[in-house]
Amino acid sequence: METLNQNQILKHTRLYIEDFFKGESTGHDAFHTFRVTNLAVYIAKSENCNELFEVEMAALLHDVDDWKLGGDSNLSNAKNWMISQQLSLETINKIIDLIQQVSFKGSKVETPVSSLAAACVQDADRLDALGAIGIARTFAYGGKNNRLLYSPDEKPTFHDSYESYKTKQSSTFMHFYEKLFLLKDRMNTITAKEIANKRHQFMELYVKQFLEEWNFSENY
Ligand code: NI
Repeated sequence: METLNQNQILKHTRLYIEDFFKGESTGHDAFHTFRVTNLAVYIAKSENCNELFEVEMAALLHDVDDWKLGGDSNLSNAKNWMISQQLSLETINKIIDLIQQVSFKGSKVETPVSSLAAACVQDADRLDALGAIGIARTFAYGGKNNRLLYSPDEKPTFHDSYESYKTKQSSTFMHFYEKLFLLKDRMNTITAKEIANKRHQFMELYVKQFLEEWNFSENY
């Protein structure tokens, strides 16, 4: 069999992603993956990263084994897909390594990256959790998981392990404090930091307005 070139593999992978995420409604749909991919490539180019193919593939496959979507920690879906595309074991391992470094694991859990390529993919996924789209995705995810929008007496919990982060039950609104507002300071690249700052400011405005509306009737 003739080996596929990188452009063909990327094209096939995009189709695989469209199919894979059909019907997904928690904000981890194919459009999320494509936005993350575009951001990752944009960051990689402006940071002069020379592993563009690996960055793009890792971004495309970063959520196919996500725990939130019932995936396993061996990243079987990503691996099997890349094997089907006849990528070399060396390239597959490189891309798997990048995917493993994407996830946010809790407010107090450090998630350092081992390379510029890993930094680009991690930053891209975190950027899509911020701003107007980040807000929409946060509430969509909370609704799907039966969370309240907001619970006035609640205080944020800063999780110190991935396990406790995964089992959290707080209202969706707490997610701003437990994760979203922390992300701008966790960006690895200058390019992502600039984008994150703008999105962060927008979320602050949003949260302020949200609380003003929530408390409106109390003032009369
Ligand atoms: Ni993601």
